[in-house]
Amino acid sequence: MPKQVKLAAHFPGVNNTTVWSDPRSGSQIDFSSFEHLARTAERGKFDFLFLAEGLRLREHAGEILDSDVVGRPNTTTVLAALSAVTTRLGLAGTLSSTFNEPYEVARQVASIDHLSGGRAAWNVVTSPDAWTGQNFRRGGFLKREDRYRRAEEFLATVRELWDSWAPDALVGDKENGVFARGIDRFVHSGPQFDIRGEFTVPRTPQGQPIVIQAGDSDEGREFAAKTADVIFSRHGSLESGKEFFADVKRRLPAHGREPGELLIMPAATFVLGDTEEDAHEYAREIRYQQVRPATAIQFLEQVWSRDLSAYDADGPLPEVDPDPDAEPLTWGRVRHEKDPLAVAAKWRAIAEEKKLSIRELVIEVTARQQFVGTARQVADSVNEYVQSDAADGFVLVPHLTPGGLDAFVDDVVPHLQERGVFRTDYTGDTLREHLFSR
Ligand SMILES: Cc1cc2nc3c(=O)[nH]c(=O)nc-3n(C[C@H](O)[C@H](O)[C@H](O)COP(=O)(O)O)c2cc1C
Repeated sequence: MPKQVKLAAHFPGVNNTTVWSDPRSGSQIDFSSFEHLARTAERGKFDFLFLAEGLRLREHAGEILDSDVVGRPNTTTVLAALSAVTTRLGLAGTLSSTFNEPYEVARQVASIDHLSGGRAAWNVVTSPDAWTGQNFRRGGFLKREDRYRRAEEFLATVRELWDSWAPDALVGDKENGVFARGIDRFVHSGPQFDIRGEFTVPRTPQGQPIVIQAGDSDEGREFAAKTADVIFSRHGSLESGKEFFADVKRRLPAHGREPGELLIMPAATFVLGDTEEDAHEYAREIRYQQVRPATAIQFLEQVWSRDLSAYDADGPLPEVDPDPDAEPLTWGRVRHEKDPLAVAAKWRAIAEEKKLSIRELVIEVTARQQFVGTARQVADSVNEYVQSDAADGFVLVPHLTPGGLDAFVDDVVPHLQERGVFRTDYTGDTLREHLFSR
């Protein structure tokens, strides 16, 4: 039997992948948008809906970066509301282990698991910058290398809390007047957390809600291999996907785990057309909507850490080099490229070879349109990536909110079903059952 494809729907909210200025784009904030995406994903029998989280608005050169759609409602509140308008779809929320407390996160995720009948997932992120911490009482209180130390103990503590109620603790014995029995006191004493008491939420339908991890470094991958159920990755291309997949799965046996116990789901965008040419033409249009001249200059400034506003986005790359020692101009975006001089050299070579302006270069190097083609072609590609172990499935990032997933569900999902690689209906009730058939 071929591998089954896993699918999740990302509500992008704050992101440069959305095209908020398109006439078909609706609100990023109204509940109706979240509801539309969730109902569509459930109609398509998706595994889960996914919400990212940013705890500070992104800034560029001291101003709020409004080329990314600004602002979004609280993750757990949205998921709680979605649990009431869906019945089978998994509900995954991102919550930082750096700026939260284990007791509070355990309570929130356990509560969503109860409200949804076993469909909750927590994406553990370590939030990379101290700048975000300025919004919190203790400020940017952790060094980068300490974040995974805290994350690991954070997750272990959350799991202790989830496990602290016996499965049959709620006895409800009316005759003898016994409501609950077997609630363990928990005592957690470790380098990061020293807490004790009782957990206030009874054991949840999944017992252990699903844990997702998003982080790319060696520590991040090790953390996921040791303890996560799913990795949300940025390695969407066939080549880097295969490398990432092999690297992460190779780490599992050392932690006593089988390759099938950790699913790898990269973020992926898609563009559909009636013909292949239409799809490519539309994909090009979307890229030009996403990367306006000012956005292109801002993007370059992120790497250069210099004011480049005097440059023409339709002209060549600046001759001046990036300033590797300057404070970054952009705050709030995860930086994966560490050496600005090397990045600039690489981009100059690409621009020269392909004769690209600044805007064209930015479009070229930020292209993340993974699947472009007819519905049949996209289904074939998604399936090829999964069967060749570049991924176990994808977290799809539609560029239009809230209707961007409609065509995928209506046109691509049936092709996947025809190929026998995607469910035609849910066979279980909980997210764990959807993901692991158990
Ligand atoms: C695909 C991906 C998605 C992420 N999403 C979020 C997010 O929604 N919120 C957040 O605070 N951090 C997010 N992060 C940041 C990570 O949790 C982590 O702090 C960062 O990647 C640095 O760790 P690393 O060096 O292990 O990658 C994301 C990272 C990746 C790779």
